[in-house]
Amino acid sequence: MAAIPETQTAVVINAFGSDYAKNITIGSIPVPKPGPGEVLLRITCRPLNPADVFSALGVYPGFTPKQMPAVLGLEGVGSVAALGPDCSGRLAVGQRCVATRWLCVAEGNGTWRQYAVVPEEDLIAVPDELPDEAACQALVNPIPVVGMFQEVGAAAGDYVVVTAAGSALGRMAISYGKKEVGVKIIGTVRRPEQVEEIKAAGADEVVVVRGPEDAAAFKEKVLALTGGKGAAGVLECIAGDMPNIVGPAVRDNGTIIMYGAMNGIDIKWNVVDPLFRGVSMKGFWLWPWMNARSAEERRAVMERVVRLMVAGVLPPHKVDSRPLEGAVEALQYQATVGRDAKMVLRG
Ligand SMILES: NC(=O)c1ccc[n+]([C@@H]2O[C@H](COP(=O)([O-])OP(=O)(O)OC[C@H]3O[C@@H](n4cnc5c(N)ncnc54)[C@H](OP(=O)(O)O)[C@@H]3O)[C@@H](O)[C@H]2O)c1
Repeated sequence: MAAIPETQTAVVINAFGSDYAKNITIGSIPVPKPGPGEVLLRITCRPLNPADVFSALGVYPGFTPKQMPAVLGLEGVGSVAALGPDCSGRLAVGQRCVATRWLCVAEGNGTWRQYAVVPEEDLIAVPDELPDEAACQALVNPIPVVGMFQEVGAAAGDYVVVTAAGSALGRMAISYGKKEVGVKIIGTVRRPEQVEEIKAAGADEVVVVRGPEDAAAFKEKVLALTGGKGAAGVLECIAGDMPNIVGPAVRDNGTIIMYGAMNGIDIKWNVVDPLFRGVSMKGFWLWPWMNARSAEERRAVMERVVRLMVAGVLPPHKVDSRPLEGAVEALQYQATVGRDAKMVLRG
């Protein structure tokens, strides 16, 4: 086991805003020491999630540093570098781990650094079958997939709409929904060239939805597939006009789960769906969902997620990896339309 250095490399944000090259630098910060019941983790791999972009812009409620500079990053995988006093013996030095939550992120101590202290109770071991590039994606996308299927109220055989079906999370939702929940999936994409690819990924139907001009055809397609009833629910992450497009295709008393804002934070929705048809809209956010559970429950759900990732039921997205020092370039690349891989920062 390598000696633990005094300082570490970190992706440091000095000011919020879209000029990443100006606001974000590669810095050297102290390596923290684990206290009682804590573990020092050598983080080796972390993905770039859309919420990291929102963090850099200063609009993500899960990243609210009290002062700058701060460190970006929502999740990652690493190995145990040192154990603090009073650890249970469940984990050993060198053990690869992922966290069931990263309490340090909200205060601005994110995972885009080499070392972090994490409570031992918040860590689970990762099996060798799951390489770092996959394991580092085990929290932020898979947990909402599992949680949202519990919340949406769809039974086996029902249809569920998944917007942005080509996203990393969308592809996991298709696979998990089909294989574990037994529902049928109607995906939406904004690029026609993605239709066959997302069908091949398991969606029963894929519809191109670019804006309100596609609303009528979308509703007609969903009603035709569901014998006129409508979909049981929607997992929706676009916002803007999308609730108004997908809502009328939801059956009476169905549910729209809003979990993202890829097209801005405002939404447009008609009053007919909730007022006369009992369609409801609920939000889903990973952190309160996890925090509402005991440490044991969080570990159990993450251990299940990891097993399902290994089994291919929650398929990790393919990755495009860069060194930690390439974070600015990775953030800039994230805005590319049609980017077909998740950026991962290594080192
Ligand atoms: N609430 C939670 O707890 C939670 C947790 C995790 C993720 N999320 C949300 O889940 C969503 C997906 O995350 P991810 O990591 O899977 O993302 P991702 O792999 O980066 O994919 C982003 C997707 O969004 C599509 N997209 C981007 N801007 C769009 C727009 N203006 N209109 C229509 N489609 C657009 C992209 O389409 P193209 O391929 O055409 O570019 C792509 O399919 C994000 O909104 C993220 O914030 C929420």
